[in-house]
Amino acid sequence: MIKLLLNNQISEQDIKAYQSKVTKINKMIDEKTGPGNDFLGWVDWPVNYDKEELQRIKKDAQYVRDHFEVLVVCGIGGSYLGARAALEALKGLKSDDKLEIIFMGQTFSPNYVSQVLKYLENKNFAINVISKSGTTTETSISFRLLKELLERKIGKEASKKAIYATTDKEKGALKTLCNQEGYATYVLPGNIGGRYSVLTAVGLFPLAAAGIDVEAMLLGAKEAREAYDNDDLDKNICYRYAVTRDFMLHRDKPVEMYVTYEPQMSQISEWLKQLFGESEGKEKKGLFPSSATFSTDLHSLGQFIQDGTPLLFETILNIETPNDDITIPHDDADLDGLNYLEGKNLAFVNQKAFEGTLKAHVEDGHVPCNVISIDKLDAKTLGHLFYFFMRACAMSAYLLDINPFNQPGVEIYKKNMFHLLGKKGY
Ligand code: PA5
Repeated sequence: MIKLLLNNQISEQDIKAYQSKVTKINKMIDEKTGPGNDFLGWVDWPVNYDKEELQRIKKDAQYVRDHFEVLVVCGIGGSYLGARAALEALKGLKSDDKLEIIFMGQTFSPNYVSQVLKYLENKNFAINVISKSGTTTETSISFRLLKELLERKIGKEASKKAIYATTDKEKGALKTLCNQEGYATYVLPGNIGGRYSVLTAVGLFPLAAAGIDVEAMLLGAKEAREAYDNDDLDKNICYRYAVTRDFMLHRDKPVEMYVTYEPQMSQISEWLKQLFGESEGKEKKGLFPSSATFSTDLHSLGQFIQDGTPLLFETILNIETPNDDITIPHDDADLDGLNYLEGKNLAFVNQKAFEGTLKAHVEDGHVPCNVISIDKLDAKTLGHLFYFFMRACAMSAYLLDINPFNQPGVEIYKKNMFHLLGKKGY
């Protein structure tokens, strides 16, 4: 379902040198013996997911589609990025779906929050609040404001049928509130961390509400699990990619740039940045994940990538067949000089931009470029891709002797902020 072409600065021999480490780590993942092993629930999730809950998610999501104009998805980090990435990748940036999806809870910005609340004043909207801990400040503030607006508009009782929560099975402030108010709730399993949760209710409820085939996504992930649960470095492209990342880091390429030629994939890059950045960036180790959308960013970052400090390698996400295409028309005057492209499709032009840039970066710029190709962007392929990257991330982090599943560094800013805000105990 996906193809991997590794950059020309790593040889088969270099890859093979990792075999014994990869064998050991793959066993560690399967047997759940490595650091952070109580957060490996995502590994078998594509087969072990709660089937009853999925049916409930689909039914409730259909109810939301049939009864509301807008669904506000309220969450941050792993409780936000995956759903947004999949939504944009599959529905595009100008979706005309009957249900509009808006994201909130991912910022303190008074401008953004005020704008969304004002927009919702005259809309018939539902809320999907997502927080594993149930105490994340950005999400909690937004949810308080959204709930207040909703109850003011339609009353407390009716609001109960318009609020859907995804949180821990038993604990946390949000869970207590859900129990008290009787909101529909879905579970973010205790053994799955936020950034590995896109295939749980965290992603599935908003995506099902958007009309996306979430069972196809899970099926894609299941196929990926079957394909990548082995240590054979000749065949396992997931681990070949993970090994290449480690190799690049140790060859003075501390930055990985995710590149796409599809603007609707740029949120996938954001999801990747969180997945790899938060999983690996510890103990003064890890690749710095960055991203660019070409050809747009060739007119901004292109110069640096081609000729600047040689600190990065690219991982290009290439979609071979776009879902839509458009033909360049004839123009009698041809004052723009474009008649040489008359009758050609934009997919053809985008493809040539990709090929020309790849050649420039590899041959002239000596930038190592990996290419991950998928035939088509659909729910099943995306489910496969999500799993591919999560498994590659676990392998990469373990190759660095890092626990991929914690994020101790994230707590420090929170402590300072709580102190400055006057929160009790800080
Ligand atoms: O990956 C993670 O664990 C984090 O990014 C969390 O998802 C994020 O901090 C939000 O946490 P919560 O779901 O508890 O509100």
